[in-house]
Amino acid sequence: MPDQESTGLGSTLITGIGELVTNDGDRGGFAAMTDAALVIAEGKVAWTGPASRAPAADAVVDAAGRAVLPGFADSHAHLVFAGERSAEFAARMAGRPYRAGGILVTVEATRGASDAVLRANLRRLAAEMLRQGTTTFECKSGYGLTVPDEARGLALAAEVTAEVTYLGAHVVPPEFAADPAGYVDLVCGPMLAACAPSARWVDVFCEDGAFGADEAAAILAAGRAAGLLARVHANQLGPGPGARVAAEAGAASADHCTFLTDADLDALVSAQVVATLLPGAEFGTRQPFPDARRLLDAGATVALATDCNPGSSFTSSMAFCVALAVREMGMTTEEAVWAATAGGARALRRTDIGHLGAGARADLILLDAPSHAYLAYRPGVPQVAAVWQAGRLVAGRVT
Ligand code: NIG
Ligand code: FE
Repeated sequence: MPDQESTGLGSTLITGIGELVTNDGDRGGFAAMTDAALVIAEGKVAWTGPASRAPAADAVVDAAGRAVLPGFADSHAHLVFAGERSAEFAARMAGRPYRAGGILVTVEATRGASDAVLRANLRRLAAEMLRQGTTTFECKSGYGLTVPDEARGLALAAEVTAEVTYLGAHVVPPEFAADPAGYVDLVCGPMLAACAPSARWVDVFCEDGAFGADEAAAILAAGRAAGLLARVHANQLGPGPGARVAAEAGAASADHCTFLTDADLDALVSAQVVATLLPGAEFGTRQPFPDARRLLDAGATVALATDCNPGSSFTSSMAFCVALAVREMGMTTEEAVWAATAGGARALRRTDIGHLGAGARADLILLDAPSHAYLAYRPGVPQVAAVWQAGRLVAGRVT
């Protein structure tokens, strides 16, 4: 029999699925079926249903009672950088506080790195994500902070993902320390012009020590005028205007949302801004975790993402984020898995991923476990047996 899984040619039936998480129920949230099967054809999900009624296909995979989930959609990552900051992490764990200023250490290393070094680091992290079941990821610039360095960061990101985000407004670089308004003009002017062709999104770190409300609003408006969609780093390190700015800008997502007032919460819910929670950052900075329960109970759409970056959250593991969300943030296992798949898709305004309804892109994970709950039940244990992306087996093995 030809190797159907790896070529992606012909149809593949995955049967004997103990739990198939489809997220395609009528009510829009987590949905799953037991004793299920799924057919992949032409890179898409062609059929799901009871294993006993599965149609024939060109190739058959026996899941042997294991769970199949949509691939993770990691909607927040900073992967274009050089160097590392393990000493800063160790110092923080010894009691030093986290400040936005550590970003500049990575900016210096990134500016000094060759394209080849940046590309190799980026590809290593992208491969690491894929092996762990992340089939879609967003990637930001933000460690260049000059016109050529931001433009090359985005060009590199565009080599590995369609979800590319211009984050020239990460922090004010040292050469503009005396003229932050001049830096905002650069971000909204020549830097945006050089970056917009490679990007889909514009982001701003709206926080004390980074950019204020008026600056953030101006940067998002300039990005929108250049054809980019908005997302915001909001309310990570303390209370502030980020969530309100995100709602007013019609952003797809407000990310972090650790310190929200009731008014912030109302603004996010009524503007239908996804609240993307990044528990790896609270873990890595020893901050209080965001209250996912409060967001969900208020009717917000919640996504989970890694925030993978060398400073605050150097994890690429969506499974780890799911486990933290369940243990520390008041989410059920079902809510956390939905947030890491369909929630990430919402945060990226994608309807083709995050679920396994017929017609969805065939991005899926075979777990070495009988149910999605094992992601939180067995934290820290690698449990992704195989990964398909657009119908191709791209990591792991099925036996
Ligand atoms: O999302 N918040 C801003 N940026 C990153 C931190 C980046 C860094 O420390 O290098 C974050 O946590
Ligand atoms: Fe971030």
